[in-house]
Amino acid sequence: MEKEEELQESATPCLHLVSAFFACEPPDFVISYAREFGGGSITESVQSFIWNGCINKSDVKYNGPYLKRFLKKLIVEIESNGDVVLDELYEKYIFCLACVKDDELAKGNTRMLRRFSFLFPKDCSQASSCQILGKLEVTLQCSLNMLEGDTGCSIWPSGLFLSEFILSFPEVFSGKSCLEQVGSGVGLVGVCLAQANCSKVILTDGDLSTLANMKLNLELNQLATDMLGHTQINNTVQCLYLPWESATENELCEFMPDIVLGADVIYDPLCLPHLVRVLTMLLKREDLNLHYLNNGCKEHLNGNTHAEHLSPALGQGPVAYIASVIRNIDTFNCFLSLAEKAKLIVSDITDTMKPLDLFPYLKSYERSSIRMFKISYLCK
Ligand SMILES: C[S@@+](CC[C@H](N)C(=O)[O-])C[C@H]1O[C@@H](n2cnc3c(N)ncnc32)[C@H](O)[C@@H]1O
Repeated sequence: MEKEEELQESATPCLHLVSAFFACEPPDFVISYAREFGGGSITESVQSFIWNGCINKSDVKYNGPYLKRFLKKLIVEIESNGDVVLDELYEKYIFCLACVKDDELAKGNTRMLRRFSFLFPKDCSQASSCQILGKLEVTLQCSLNMLEGDTGCSIWPSGLFLSEFILSFPEVFSGKSCLEQVGSGVGLVGVCLAQANCSKVILTDGDLSTLANMKLNLELNQLATDMLGHTQINNTVQCLYLPWESATENELCEFMPDIVLGADVIYDPLCLPHLVRVLTMLLKREDLNLHYLNNGCKEHLNGNTHAEHLSPALGQGPVAYIASVIRNIDTFNCFLSLAEKAKLIVSDITDTMKPLDLFPYLKSYERSSIRMFKISYLCK
C-alpha cells in the first residue's frame, strides 16, 4: 500500500481532488478523484490524505453543510467497497451531524466559502505576466441558493469563463486605465482583473445584497494577495451600485472605461433594453465626450484623470467582452436585435480567442455551453 507521504499534492489526481473539494464541487465528483488517486479504491492512505489535506483544513462554521454531505458520501463509498473507514472520518461526521442542522439548508440562503484554484500549465507565460506562480487561489463567499441577491450571490459558469479569459489574455487588460463590469455578482472577475495588472477596476451591480457580498469577497482576497506580497487589490477595485434601469449618461460619464465586461447578464428579456442602453452609453465614447463638452463638463475632460482615460480610446474606441450561456434563443436574438438598433457590433470570438482551461478539476463546469462576445460601437 502506498504511504501518505508519497501522495504529493502536486500530483495531478491529488491536486484535482484538493482543488475540487475546496471549490465545493458535488461530493460524487470529489470522490471520483479520490478513487482515481487510490487506483480504484479509497485506501487508508488516501483517506489520511483527504483528512489532512481537505477535511481538517475546512471550517465547519462556514462549510458545515457541505462537509456533512461530503463525509456521508465518502463513508458510504468506502464501506460499500468493503474497506476500513478511518476513525477520524466517523468522528467528524458525528460532529457535523450534531452542529449542522438540515433546516439551515432548507432556509435557502446558506452561504459557504468556495476556493477556486486557477491551475496554470507549467511555464505558462500568461501566469508569469500576472505574477502568478503555478496557481492562483480565489476564495469567495457564495450562496447555495442560485437565486439569492437577484442571482448575484452565487457563481455562474460564464463568470468562471470570463475569469479564465482574462487570465489567458492578460495583455488585453494590462495597464488599461479603467475597466468596469456590469452585473458583477460575487466579484471573481474583479479579482482576476486586478491580477492582470489593470490600473483601475470598477465592479457594479444592481442588487445591494450582492454588492455587500462582493465587497466582502474583495476583502477576503486582499488578505491573500497581501500575504503573497502582491499589490493590494483593494486600492484598485471599487464596487458601485448601478441598476441598469436608472443609470444615467452623467453617471456613466464618470467611468470612461476602456473595456467593459459582463458575464451571464443576457437572460431577462425585461432587463435587455436597459442593459443595451447602458452598454451603448459606455461604448459610444466620442459621442459621450461631445455630450460632456456641450454640457459644461469640460473640467472633467481637461482634468488629468479623465484625459488619461480618454486618450487611448479616442483612436480605437472602447470594447466590451460579454460571456454568456444562451439558455433561450429568443431572448438572445432579442438582445442581438436591440444591439443592432443601438449600432453595436456583436462578434462571437469564442473560437478565435479560446481561453486556457484553468479549471481542469471542475467537472460541474460546462465550458462548451458558453460563448464569448466582443462588442463595439459602430462609429459611422
Ligand atoms: C446571473 S448573475 C451573474 C453574476 C456574475 N456576473 C457571474 O457570472 O457569476 C446576473 C447578475 O446581474 C445582476 N443584474 C441583474 N439585473 C440587473 C439590473 N437590472 N441592473 C444591474 N444589475 C443587474 C444581478 O444582480 C447579478 O449579479
